[in-house]
Amino acid sequence: MVSKAVLPVAGLGTRFLPATKAVPKELLPVVDRPAIQYIVEECARAGLDDVLLVTASGKSTIEDHFDRLLDLEAALEDKGKTDDLAAVRDLADLVSIHSVRQGEALGLGHAVLQAEHHVGDESFVVCLGDDIVDPRTPFLERMIAAHHRTGVAVVALMEVPEDQVHLYGVADVTPGDEPGEYRISELVEKPPVDEAPSNLIVVGRYVLPGSIFPVLHDTPPGRGGEIQLTDALQTLAADEPIVGIVLDAPRHDTGDKLGFLKATVELAAIREDLGPDFVAWLREWLETQP
Ligand code: UTP
Repeated sequence: MVSKAVLPVAGLGTRFLPATKAVPKELLPVVDRPAIQYIVEECARAGLDDVLLVTASGKSTIEDHFDRLLDLEAALEDKGKTDDLAAVRDLADLVSIHSVRQGEALGLGHAVLQAEHHVGDESFVVCLGDDIVDPRTPFLERMIAAHHRTGVAVVALMEVPEDQVHLYGVADVTPGDEPGEYRISELVEKPPVDEAPSNLIVVGRYVLPGSIFPVLHDTPPGRGGEIQLTDALQTLAADEPIVGIVLDAPRHDTGDKLGFLKATVELAAIREDLGPDFVAWLREWLETQP
């Protein structure tokens, strides 16, 4: 059974400066909770009860967010603010949170490698700490079920317009066992449009076998001098198939300014408490725009 999730949150967040100079991008609030909370909630919904944060110096407030805060709880209790109290207290009980330091931001593959001691040789999930998937979709459950069925690595895929493939890791695919599922024979990092094997890119959700760790140990720095998870997956794909499932729901890269704005609008719009008023205001406001 897959029970552990690894959430790399040790990146520098340079695309969101100056906001991320002192505040980790994973803590930037989307509506009323930090981006990372959506991801931990997604893990809990998928039945994962053990979350390892791969963090870095200056980012310990991410762990604090999931810890108890007894003074605050007592103050809320005294004031009879039961809803706020539940929101704060339930968060600490959501999953068991662990952390490990990356030391130096040497790439996503290097961040995942820091989880080796905690995970051992079990299969585990990796969710990027700034990548929010629509909370209404059970996509991670579907990925975990595909891993249990096939026993191999499963990655999330997303279709992008052809003129954007050069920005991402692109998968060479053949149809798989189920609709929306593919077998990946090769992953190509940021190919020119005319060399891209498809318009399916790999996005921030992975179910990986423990056998990825020895591969990561042997993966040399690649693009940007960083140890890339895509390069390790490419090595893995030479020995065993990798399954890709196309994400059929909205997903937002909140580490990017435009992605963050879109996430804020969409996640506010689907909220029962805020959505109707927010959408009504947004419609009115758009009509005043040239
Ligand atoms: P990104 O590439 O989006 O993060 O990695 P980044 O390097 O912080 O981004 P920019 O380009 O400078 O803005 C996706 C996730 O992987 C983590 C990041 O924290 C983010 O949640 N990451 C990335 C690490 O934990 N360690 C790394 O060395 C790189």
